[in-house]
Amino acid sequence: MSECKCDHAAWHKEQAELDKLLADFKGEKGVLIPAIQKVQDYYGYLPERGLKKVAETFDMPLSKVFGVATFYAQFHLSPRGRWIVRVCQGTACHVRGADKIMDRLISELGIGPGETTEDLRFTIEPVACIGCCGLAPVCMVNDNTHGRLTPDNIPEILEMYE
Ligand code: FES
Repeated sequence: MSECKCDHAAWHKEQAELDKLLADFKGEKGVLIPAIQKVQDYYGYLPERGLKKVAETFDMPLSKVFGVATFYAQFHLSPRGRWIVRVCQGTACHVRGADKIMDRLISELGIGPGETTEDLRFTIEPVACIGCCGLAPVCMVNDNTHGRLTPDNIPEILEMYE
């Protein structure tokens, strides 16, 4: 009989860390969303094993936790890039060529909106107005704003983020 190849030590360590993170929520009411946020902060997204841990902590069906995680846009069920490139699709950006910015980004990174590069470096996210219409067209890379963009700016912006 072959032995299980799972990394039990790593799994136990992860379970213990999650138990610690979720300990304060146990037995509390109305804290499901902050608990899921903690798990997302831990992994950077929400793998099924993380959602299972939440279900176990609150003694509720996994389907319910999964339902909450899929309902809110702040939760992500698949891994995301270190750098989230948010391309504004608001009206001001749209009339000033947001589509061309998005097209260049797609061709530079080889992924579509909502997708993540294989090396987990970038995720592209179309977003509504981000509040700096005077700089249209605009994108944000994590917390940094880049405005008055032309498609030719995109390669140099991407190079800034390892
Ligand atoms: S429409 Fe793009 S920042 Fe407002």
